[in-house]
Amino acid sequence: MGYTLITGSSRGIGADWAVEAAKAGQELVLVVRREADAVATLERIQPWASGAQPVVLTADLGQPESLAALIHQLDTLHMAGKSPDRVVNNAGFGDYAALHQADPAVLRNMVEVNVQALMHLSHWAANRLESGGRLINVASTAAFQAGPGMAAYYASKAFVLSFSEALATELKPRNISVTAVCPGPTRTAFFDRAGLEKSRLVSQGLMPLMDAPTAVRYAFQRAEKRKFYAIPGFMNRLGTVLPRLTGRRFAAATVGWLQRPH
Ligand SMILES: NC(=O)c1ccc[n+]([C@@H]2O[C@H](COP(=O)([O-])OP(=O)(O)OC[C@H]3O[C@@H](n4cnc5c(N)ncnc54)[C@H](OP(=O)(O)O)[C@@H]3O)[C@@H](O)[C@H]2O)c1
Repeated sequence: MGYTLITGSSRGIGADWAVEAAKAGQELVLVVRREADAVATLERIQPWASGAQPVVLTADLGQPESLAALIHQLDTLHMAGKSPDRVVNNAGFGDYAALHQADPAVLRNMVEVNVQALMHLSHWAANRLESGGRLINVASTAAFQAGPGMAAYYASKAFVLSFSEALATELKPRNISVTAVCPGPTRTAFFDRAGLEKSRLVSQGLMPLMDAPTAVRYAFQRAEKRKFYAIPGFMNRLGTVLPRLTGRRFAAATVGWLQRPH
């Protein structure tokens, strides 16, 4: 049996994914920024521990050298006979600011994590997963329309969605499935970290949040069933169709209104 690799497994969706994977008896390789960041997740998965101990690898996915070092460590594991059968590209973050007010260094870092690291780890996975393997990329419902106020974040998730859809077709003949996970607003540290509390969306409570374990349970099952998409929640699924019905300009204007500072 191979292992399940999960990036961004220190908290939020990645930590809940680790719990689901542990419950399903999967061996885990957790990728976190610092070793201590894995402690809480390791404690949470302890009740389902069986067989091999989880491996913890550290990487700052916003630093190309650190990503290269991670890939080297994964190849070392591979040479020692440990191969992945599921790769979950989950790490990511957003930045709430109109583009002209955003810090270019933060935007560059966001693209490194959300796009470059995900692309490189998908490339690695495409070369290392065997028949029956699964690649799981965490996009967002943000992938389906433009997001004024978080333009680069929404665009980064549009990349993840389009990239994953293409890979699903490329890898199908090799019996490797690709699932694009598209959560809607989910209760994690994401909003505080992005600075979204200043937006109308958050400050006026216009956004119902789904619990992360509920969203992850749904997405986990969809990935196990080798589905193309995992969009947790009926309203979120409906939201991904609306831009096609209303037109993309109207959808962008609506998100822009919701995300205006309040
Ligand atoms: N929450 C939502 O509403 C929502 C909706 C749609 C999609 N998503 C996506 O879901 C994924 C997980 O987000 P979340 O909601 O669980 O947020 P979160 O609680 O903030 O978790 C983000 C995870 O990504 C990791 N990460 C961020 N930058 C990193 C870097 N440079 N190197 C390595 N790891 C890094 C974080 O590690 P540290 O703890 O070390 O920072 C953390 O483990 C993201 O891709 C996000 O875009 C979230």
